[in-house]
Amino acid sequence: MSTVAIIGGGKIGEALLAGLIAGGMSPKRIHVANRRKERGQELKEQYGIQPFEENAAAADGVDVVFLCVKPKQLVAVVDEIAETVDNNDATIVVSMAAGVKSAAIEEVLAAGTPVLRVMPNTPMLVGKGMSAVAPGRFADDENVEQVRKLLQTVGEVAVIDESDMDAVIAMSGSSPAYLFLFVEAMIDAGVDLGLPRDVAKTLATQSMYGAATMLKETGEEPAQLRANVSSPGGTTIAALRSLEESGLRGMVYRAAEAAAQRNAEMGK
Ligand SMILES: NC(=O)c1ccc[n+]([C@@H]2O[C@H](COP(=O)([O-])OP(=O)(O)OC[C@H]3O[C@@H](n4cnc5c(N)ncnc54)[C@H](OP(=O)(O)O)[C@@H]3O)[C@@H](O)[C@H]2O)c1
Repeated sequence: MSTVAIIGGGKIGEALLAGLIAGGMSPKRIHVANRRKERGQELKEQYGIQPFEENAAAADGVDVVFLCVKPKQLVAVVDEIAETVDNNDATIVVSMAAGVKSAAIEEVLAAGTPVLRVMPNTPMLVGKGMSAVAPGRFADDENVEQVRKLLQTVGEVAVIDESDMDAVIAMSGSSPAYLFLFVEAMIDAGVDLGLPRDVAKTLATQSMYGAATMLKETGEEPAQLRANVSSPGGTTIAALRSLEESGLRGMVYRAAEAAAQRNAEMGK
């Protein structure tokens, strides 16, 4: 089994390490680097991983380095680990950062180092993530498979072209927040109709969870599932008409476009 380094044990880094351990990887095979010593200790106590304060030391001797720092920190972190990665035997470098192109990472590393770019999302935290993997120019099929196996411990994996990354962030990287916002609005609407907040939250959350599970498990088109619950002259079709009249579809198109545009801007 691979040994991995996670540089940046924040939300995504922690979700990944928790998934890897739940998937059977020994915490001893996971190096985690943070700037703050307390955060490293916290992760060591909770998961038994090896904490590091030096990124290069964390990357020493591992098969795969996952870069889970914010985009603005990414290139500096790659620079810190470049020499160690070059001295290692065939380490794969995987960036989880939005916006930063694999070419910008390849430029800092020794020529030929396999780099993959991954767009994760936070449902990784509960083992239901969606990771889109785009191989850089030096990454081969074997590298992709090795990374796919690791990421499958925290959800599903799709292999995509890096040129599709702006659209992918709109579809999977940012989209959990769209649902959180929708459910938040539903809860307020329930309160407006006179429900206690905790009851509105339970009803809205379980309904969205059930609906998402139906989409996934039946494989039916969303349009069909929606038609199935829209009785003639009924309550659901009345609510759907109101959503359509308020421009729901247009809002979704514009939101997706905004996320994609922002990702493209971050890459410049
Ligand atoms: N959250 C999402 O929904 C999401 C979705 C898709 C993609 N992403 C991508 O995932 C990456 C991580 O996001 P996140 O939400 O996990 O951010 P986060 O919670 O802020 O985690 C970043 C971690 O990096 C550590 N760090 C910062 N500078 C460092 C350095 N120089 N060396 C080592 N560690 C360093 C920080 O801890 P210390 O300060 O203790 O070092 C922190 O724990 C980002 O690039 C983001 O674009 C996130």
